[in-house]
Amino acid sequence: MTTRINPSILAADFANLERELGRIASADLVHVDIMDNHFVPNLTFGLPMVERLAQVTPIPLDVHLMIDDPDRWAPGYAEAGAFSVTFHAEAAGEPVSLARRLRDMGARAGIALKPGTDAAPYLDLLPEFDQVLVMTVEPGFGGQSFIPETMPKLARLADAVHDAGLDVWLQVDGGITADTIGMAAEAGADTFVAGSAVFNGDVPAERIASLRAAASAHPHRHAAGHR
Ligand code: DX5
Ligand code: ZN
Repeated sequence: MTTRINPSILAADFANLERELGRIASADLVHVDIMDNHFVPNLTFGLPMVERLAQVTPIPLDVHLMIDDPDRWAPGYAEAGAFSVTFHAEAAGEPVSLARRLRDMGARAGIALKPGTDAAPYLDLLPEFDQVLVMTVEPGFGGQSFIPETMPKLARLADAVHDAGLDVWLQVDGGITADTIGMAAEAGADTFVAGSAVFNGDVPAERIASLRAAASAHPHRHAAGHR
């Protein structure tokens, strides 16, 4: 089972982003949180930032759109060079056609679920997506506490992905630390976003390594021989 650690630059030093990217060379992807002050009560960056980041880092960009009307705006992020574009189920008008457009443009398509959003309506749509993001905090801010009540939903998605034989990455985002990552790994996550846990230390690369080790120490529910 592959473990991916995606540091969120929301917790990085915005005045030195290129240097911060250099400090996370061992990351699998870089998580870029786009917030529009409408879908969430916070404002971060937009398209020009993603275009520029794609130019200066070899690490693939994992764009998380916390914005209204992704049907209108998400394709621009694929065009800007994002490797993966994840939009919120609660905000999308036509999630399937949007995912198809993103894939046609060469990006991976992801759908994100807020903590209170049920996975059931999306289980049959899993083949349309490359990633499902289970939010483990309310979207909008870094540094919040992990919500363990989201784990049964993650496990249900992991079972559905496994039973259908799909290759859909299951991502968790929010409050992921060396203490909480194991719970998410056991429930079926393979892709872990971490902001403060990576950047609130002197050596982000060491934080990435400890998160990776902590995740790997907990067998994934569908690891060979585990279930
Ligand atoms: C929250 C964002 C997260 C955030 C995570 O809305 O989607 O990606 O950066 O930050 P931590 O890891 O500090 O909870
Ligand atoms: Zn995020």
